Amino acid sequence: LQIFACNASRELASEICHRLGIRLGQLDISRFSNDNLRVQIQENVRERDVYVVQSFTEPVSEHIMELLITLDALRSASAQRITAVIPYYSYARSDKKDAPRISITGRLIADMLKTAGADRVLTMDLHADQVHGFFSVPVDHLTAIPAIAEHFRRHYDLSNMVAVATDAGGAKRVGRFSERLSIPMAIIDKRRVSDTDVKHGEVVGDVRGRDVVIFEDEISTGGTLVSTVATLKAAGARSIHAGAVHGVLCGPAIERLREAEIDSVVISNTVALPVEKRLPKITTLSVA
Ligand code: R5P
Repeated sequence: LQIFACNASRELASEICHRLGIRLGQLDISRFSNDNLRVQIQENVRERDVYVVQSFTEPVSEHIMELLITLDALRSASAQRITAVIPYYSYARSDKKDAPRISITGRLIADMLKTAGADRVLTMDLHADQVHGFFSVPVDHLTAIPAIAEHFRRHYDLSNMVAVATDAGGAKRVGRFSERLSIPMAIIDKRRVSDTDVKHGEVVGDVRGRDVVIFEDEISTGGTLVSTVATLKAAGARSIHAGAVHGVLCGPAIERLREAEIDSVVISNTVALPVEKRLPKITTLSVA
C-alpha cells in the first residue's frame, strides 16, 4: 500500500501515514513556463495499491487538476489499484439543475476522476448523500459525525443541549448527530438570498434557555452560521456552539465567526486550516 498527497492535503496525508506507520510517497508537482501543471511520481508503483489524498479546497480548479494529473500518472506507471481520497468534495454542492442551462458539476467531476484513472473514491460527508450515485466507480462514503459527537460528549454539558439544523435539508444529518448524543433537535427555516447570504425564519423546536449546537456539513462563507446564531439568540438560546465536518471558511467567514455571538466552533481537518484562520474559539479534530 502506498499513499501520496497533492498540495491541498499534505498535512492530513502525513498524519494518515504516521498512524499507519508507513512513509508518505514522493511525488513532484511543478509547472511549465506556460502555466501547465506537471506531476511526476518519484517512486516505483508498479502493481501497487495506491491512494492519493487531495481535498477540493481553494484554489479548487487547480487542486482538481493536480489530482487528475496525478491519477493519470499513477495509471501510466502501472499501479494496480488507484483510490482517490477526497476528504472534501466541494462540487457535491453542484448536485442539481436549480437554474436553466447550468452544469451538474458534481457529476462531471466524478466522471473525470474515473477517466483519469481512479478505480475507487473515498470521501467524507458529501453535501447530499445521493451525490454518491454520481460515481460509476465504488465509493466509500465516510462520516466524521461520530468523531464530532464524541468530542461534544466529552467536553460539553449535554444536560440542557439541543442540536439545531440550519434548514430542512440538514435535518437528517442533525438527526444522526443528536441521536448519538441522546439530545433533542430543532430546525430553522432557511432561504438562501445569494452565494454568501441567507435569511432565517421560524425556529421549529424548543431553544429558549437552552445550550444549542448548530450542526452542519460545512461552514463555507459563514453566512448560514451567523444568520442561525442571530435567530437563535433572538429565540432566547443561552449559549451557542457549532459543529461542522468541513471548515471551508472562505471569503468573509473568519471575520464573521470572530464577530458572531458564538461560544465555540468544532470542525474537522478535511480542509487544512491555515495559521491565520485559527481563532481561539475554533477546535479542529483529526479525521486521519
Ligand atoms: C447548506 O445547505 C449547507 O449545509 C451549509 O449550510 C452551507 O453550505 C454553508 O454555506 P455558508 O457558510 O456559505 O452559508
